[in-house]
Amino acid sequence: MTEQLNYQNGFHNHFSTEALPGALPIGQNSPQKCAYGLYAEQLTGSAFTAPRHQNFRSWLYRIRPSVVQSAYQPLENNHIHTAPLECPAADPNQMRWDPVAIPDAPTDFIDGLFTIAVNGDAGTQAGVGVHVYTFNEDMTERFFYNADGELLFVPQLGAIRLRTEFGELEIDNGEIAVIPRGVKFQVRKAQGVDAARGYICENYGSPLELPGLGPIGANGLANPRDFQSPVAAYEDLEGDYRLVAKFSGRFWEAKLNHSPLDVVAWHGNCAPYKYNLAHFNTINTVSFDHPDPSIFTVLTSPSDTPGMANLDFVIFPPRWMVAENTFRPPWFHRNLMSEFMGLIHGEYDAKAEGFTPGGASLHNSMSPHGPDAETFEKASNAELKPQFQGDTLAFMFESRYFFHPTPAALEADFRQRDYVDVWSTLRSHFDPSQP
Ligand SMILES: [Fe+2]
Repeated sequence: MTEQLNYQNGFHNHFSTEALPGALPIGQNSPQKCAYGLYAEQLTGSAFTAPRHQNFRSWLYRIRPSVVQSAYQPLENNHIHTAPLECPAADPNQMRWDPVAIPDAPTDFIDGLFTIAVNGDAGTQAGVGVHVYTFNEDMTERFFYNADGELLFVPQLGAIRLRTEFGELEIDNGEIAVIPRGVKFQVRKAQGVDAARGYICENYGSPLELPGLGPIGANGLANPRDFQSPVAAYEDLEGDYRLVAKFSGRFWEAKLNHSPLDVVAWHGNCAPYKYNLAHFNTINTVSFDHPDPSIFTVLTSPSDTPGMANLDFVIFPPRWMVAENTFRPPWFHRNLMSEFMGLIHGEYDAKAEGFTPGGASLHNSMSPHGPDAETFEKASNAELKPQFQGDTLAFMFESRYFFHPTPAALEADFRQRDYVDVWSTLRSHFDPSQP
């Protein structure tokens, strides 16, 4: 295994990378005989006939083709769920959860996944699943791939290593990574990490892409050059391995007599990538009020309706607050889009307490929400000096489809059943004699 953590920069670029010199064929994809006795295998991330800018595929040159595996057998699983749920429970109640506890028992990434909510229908490639992962054991003998969607990782506690067919990505708190549909990988703890926790958005819809910039111009928000994909790195290992697949909402397992991380070289534009959220070029008001949070969109998965995202991944990063004569936290609102929020670190400016790093909140379509009473009082009376809000990094998975919390998330002992009470002390200030 070539133990290197080198990256290639760019968003969905056509990368070329080889761990052995000359492993990549030049000028063609599938020569009669590949160098080093490798097999050529194509992985597509779109239909063959997708428009060019949405056409994703990579060619992998590997020691054994992926067909060298046993038959799939069903694998029991009762903690990871997929839309549509058997008993859907879309619920207009505002919901909030404390962080999921780190397990005491040895638990790997797959066993440590917990589904909070899903929407849409994975079978029609619409919607998302929202999961939290917690684990304290490395995946060693088993590997995973997801046929139901790409996976957006948002680490909250502990850096993790994503060992993929394409090479390795390491991400920590403040970074994200996306693993395309079908890519085989393992998740391990980074060096010195005892346990890890984070959020995952499983995107059943069209692959995440950078949002259009419109009047912002050519630069700003997440810039393409700051995305990084791995260089090729392979291991040539024989042994008893297992390949776990998530397919149509169920889990399956096949036996492997070798490690599937045996890709010596690859080229193409369908590959895992990572991004450091500190590189997000945050744009906001320099006069008054605040723009809608769409200004903070890092990545978007469009739906068939223009402007109505299947998924927007939005962050609330460290930033200067300079708006004059303005209530600076988010105002009260009722939105068509449904919002799942998490907190990566620090504090979120619309809530005084109860929304903690690793926790989550859900505000479904048209359910009212906004600052709690304490925040409202403070922000209404604050002296409006320029202020740097530095210790904060919240995010939102926003979707056009109603989120259905899973029964386990509804019944979880870490759900805050009294969440709606945070607004109960907002009182009337109305006085018809005081304009
Ligand atoms: Fe909101």
